[in-house]
Amino acid sequence: MSLGKYSFLNDSSIQRNRAQFILNQNTRDERYTVPSANLYPYQWNWDSGFAALGFAHFDLRRAMLEIKTLFSGQWENGMLPHILFHSKKREGYFPGPAYWRSDLVQHAPKTLPTSGISQPPVHGFILERLYKLHPQSEELKDFVRYMFPKILKLHEYYYTQRDPLKEGLVYIFHPWASGRDNSPLWDDLVKRIEVDKSALPAYERFDNKKADPSERPSDRDYDVYVYLMEMAKKLAYDGLAIAQSSPFMIQDTLFNSALIRSNEALIQLGQVLGKDIGQVQEWQEESKRAYQQKLWAKELGVFAPYDMRAEKHIGLKEIGGYTPLFSGIPNDHQASLLKQEIAKISSSKHEFRLMPSFDPFDEIFDPKRYWKGPIWPQMNWLVYQGLKRYGFDLEAQQVKWDFLELVDKLGFYEYFDPRKKVADQLPHGYGGDKFTWTAAVFLDLTAEE
Ligand code: GLC
Repeated sequence: MSLGKYSFLNDSSIQRNRAQFILNQNTRDERYTVPSANLYPYQWNWDSGFAALGFAHFDLRRAMLEIKTLFSGQWENGMLPHILFHSKKREGYFPGPAYWRSDLVQHAPKTLPTSGISQPPVHGFILERLYKLHPQSEELKDFVRYMFPKILKLHEYYYTQRDPLKEGLVYIFHPWASGRDNSPLWDDLVKRIEVDKSALPAYERFDNKKADPSERPSDRDYDVYVYLMEMAKKLAYDGLAIAQSSPFMIQDTLFNSALIRSNEALIQLGQVLGKDIGQVQEWQEESKRAYQQKLWAKELGVFAPYDMRAEKHIGLKEIGGYTPLFSGIPNDHQASLLKQEIAKISSSKHEFRLMPSFDPFDEIFDPKRYWKGPIWPQMNWLVYQGLKRYGFDLEAQQVKWDFLELVDKLGFYEYFDPRKKVADQLPHGYGGDKFTWTAAVFLDLTAEE
């Protein structure tokens, strides 16, 4: 691919300085980052994984501390919550600590309030990436030894509490756990879930006041989100109990890819450090096989999440369906079909940048709205790594450079419009500004140049 049009690289050092500045500015108590100061004022789970990736390029200690702080919120049963509420200040966020009441849960940390759902388990592969970047650091080696059992425990939680049929695939009970909060994937299911509004607690949204409401989920969707949280809370967030009754029970593509790729990282790191990896190897073999078979939606030619209640795939093409490339799951046939899909998007007359979070040829595609179409930094990172793994270098480069170009033109925003003509006329990106994982992914991808 010609890099001519990406001449901004000449001053990429300026942008890299900006990215570092954002990570430092989003740091709180010198030990963790918030995703974005205005919109998300606490520590988020997978955001912190990516933050560590960014810090690893200029402050390895800080990278380690980010992960260490995140795991200070790990529950005794291994669960790692999607939000840690380190700050006691009321910062206008719903659902905050007063909603989740983790203090009433036996396994939860006693002094640190947390949420009761989780997010894609990126920690294993992020740790591995840190190790690859700094193979000589003894301090990092010690840190990997320290983290290994904690990440193992997290995976054990998934395999024992979130895989009720013992298939090797774990389920989520809330759209937010997927990391792709209001993806069209969940739309039909969310519509089908009946909510008795009078049974819901009174709550006030802040997300649609701090960001453009046309880019945020609808009120009716929000009621369902609260309904699912209520259900989980009543069951003390117990994975097996929730599996008995939840109307939302999904074996998600991204979530399971991340778990499998992190298993692989644990296996590799465990070998280097002389750890017992027998159990992870067993999980891994079963999970890879189950994923490749059960989550492949043959009629679509992509991977798709499986709805365990309806006992069928959610038949839509979206970004999570491309993430198994990163985990080495697809066979050659599946991989070449995924590549074809990507080629279709990039060569279409609408001139999209890669990689839209949702199928741009579907009528519900919405290039402005959150997970319904925009390009997300961390997703491009995952898809880029996956394409590289399979030797699809041209596509990989495009996924990477399209993202870098967007940041260069539109700033370190949360997500971006995939339509070239539109994005090129915009003054900035969408959602939150000075975003942690945008800065982090930018640092990692430009470090390769
Ligand atoms: C949104 C995203 C989620 C992310 C969070 C904080 O909720 O959907 O993936 O972790 O923001 O950035």
